[in-house]
Amino acid sequence: MAGGSGTRLWPLSRAGYPKQFLVLAGNESLFQLAARRLAALGGPGLELAAPCIVGNEEHRFLVLDQLRETKLEPSSVLLEPLGRNTAPALTLAALAALEGGRDPVLVVTPADQTVTQPAAFTAALQDAIRIAADGAIAILGITPDRPETGYGYIRTTADAGGLAVAQFVEKPNLETAERYLAEGGYYWNSGMFVLRASVWMKALERFRPDIATATRAAWDARKVDSVFVRPGKAEFAGVPSESVDYAVMERCPGTDLPLRMVALDAGWNDLGAWEAVWQVADKDDAGNASVGDALIADCKDTLVHATSRLVGVVGLTDIVVVETPDAVLVSDRARSQEVKQIVNRLGAEQ
Ligand code: GDD
Ligand code: MG
Repeated sequence: MAGGSGTRLWPLSRAGYPKQFLVLAGNESLFQLAARRLAALGGPGLELAAPCIVGNEEHRFLVLDQLRETKLEPSSVLLEPLGRNTAPALTLAALAALEGGRDPVLVVTPADQTVTQPAAFTAALQDAIRIAADGAIAILGITPDRPETGYGYIRTTADAGGLAVAQFVEKPNLETAERYLAEGGYYWNSGMFVLRASVWMKALERFRPDIATATRAAWDARKVDSVFVRPGKAEFAGVPSESVDYAVMERCPGTDLPLRMVALDAGWNDLGAWEAVWQVADKDDAGNASVGDALIADCKDTLVHATSRLVGVVGLTDIVVVETPDAVLVSDRARSQEVKQIVNRLGAEQ
């Protein structure tokens, strides 16, 4: 799923070049790192197909060029004419996977995360694939360390088969997130799901038949242009916008649709805001991190990201400075989530 807008990393992340295609950690973009992680999932008894990318029409060449740089070829690139959030995106991928009478297990993953321990990642995902092959929906859960309100929360109960999901709450308010953390026993949703294509369609048809019907209509009106597949534009515009989490995951617990969790302890980070980019960056002894042409004097725990000019900073503590040719951000590091306010004011111009 590579069609998001990643607005909290403004001004580097833009509508035309969103966060998943940026190099924010390591030498490759987040999208390339995600594709590589998936390409390593095959193993004995586990036949891996080429990746299917669901993204925005506007980013089709970014997707293809970046994927080919990693020497990976997609099975197909499904191009949305406009964003309808992740539930329709996953539905397109599921319908593509079901073509030809097959029903493969889908490893559904965001394109904008980092993982520092690839071996642990592979092992957890392979567990999830085994669970999904038996017909369940497997979610990858992360042990939380703060009351983050931008994530889904999962409460589990242990049974003979491992961990069943007893409750799923998408993006709770701060008070609720604090309570979950104090109570213990909750995990964050990593945004990765593993399930058979038919299981997704069955769950969606049960909980959101409107999304299922509208996305099917767009799929049936698709046009294929080599690796690119374009769902019908008018039909897709009529699809309700909703995330996988709200459309299906929150509604599964307590029904006969088995939702199970596999704990993922692999140095996961979703780089949601500049604070998270600073967290994962290489830092000097004073906690400063920099990318590009930056001169830092007498600063502490500060992040400087320069793309086109030399940036000099003096005497700063806990600050983020991001320079691009046409926009500069200077923010309190702890409040870097609030860059959203600026992006909202800019609207489509960002
Ligand atoms: N194709 C496509 N189309 N992809 C999309 C769309 C869309 O309309 N919208 C978002 N995506 C992609 C994003 O690029 C990202 O890779 C992934 O889907 C997840 O979308 P986000 O918008 O980043 O979701 P989120 O961060 O608010 O929440 C999700 O991830 C959290 C963990 O990072 C949820 O699953 C939460 O429950 C979870 O905790
Ligand atoms: Mg995200």
